[in-house]
Amino acid sequence: MSDSREKKKIVFSTGAGVSAESGLSTFRDAGGLWEQYPVMQVASAEGFAADPALVHKFYNARRRDLVSKEPNEAHRLIADLQRDFDVRVITQNVDDLHERAGSREVLHLHGELMKLRDVADPGYIETLSAPDLESSPDTLSRDGKGRHMRPHIVFFGEAVPNIEPAMELVEQADVFVVIGTSLNVYPAAGLLAYVRSGVPIYYIDPSPADVKGLRDVTVIRKKATEGMAELAAILRNNQ
Ligand code: OAD
Repeated sequence: MSDSREKKKIVFSTGAGVSAESGLSTFRDAGGLWEQYPVMQVASAEGFAADPALVHKFYNARRRDLVSKEPNEAHRLIADLQRDFDVRVITQNVDDLHERAGSREVLHLHGELMKLRDVADPGYIETLSAPDLESSPDTLSRDGKGRHMRPHIVFFGEAVPNIEPAMELVEQADVFVVIGTSLNVYPAAGLLAYVRSGVPIYYIDPSPADVKGLRDVTVIRKKATEGMAELAAILRNNQ
């Protein structure tokens, strides 16, 4: 038995690509969500102010989709590494597939689809469960206090409260792994800059963003499931 303080810390930073093989759409690939929906109407602070019903409807549909999906082998391989490593997951994803695969330490940068929060108080959060998965501008909190609830999603134009703890985690990483993100959205895309020098960085993505010149990154140009199988073997060999 070894103590978690002795284990190497592997910090993952995941995006929509890690959930693609579970059947969830990414955002910017061909046929992705932002090709089908006007992003500034359904996922921005201004969009929510202008038409909250449309925004609730969009996330209701995302939630119905999510509950019909299962974690894939990439989510499971990440969770399996917890047996040998101190594994932390930072994710831009609002799905709960890392948690359902068994990952215990998951930090969501952009919120969580299965949660609602008080419009006026970001600290008051409730978790939804089937069959009650829908919300609307009329949805009130279950605590009887009449709070108006909204999707627990970080809209474009809003601050990303979890970026500070994420930066701290990245600074502690012994290995840093990026999976399935186009590295388009900040501040999440900037986490790479917080990796200490000399720490190995891997990036698994079949169509990776250009990271040349940014840092010394080993790119594994594969889908998440295949790339994670390859990486898990590398990590166990170098343990
Ligand atoms: P994107 O849709 O921008 O990028 C998805 C990435 O996943 C691309 O680099 C693809 O090449 C890659 N990909 C596709 N299939 C894959 C697979 N099977 N395995 C591995 N990678 C695969 O999604 P994100 O970068 O996650 O924010 O987007 C970041 C944020 O933009 C999201 O969190 C969301 C969106 O607007 C909010 O809504 C706040």
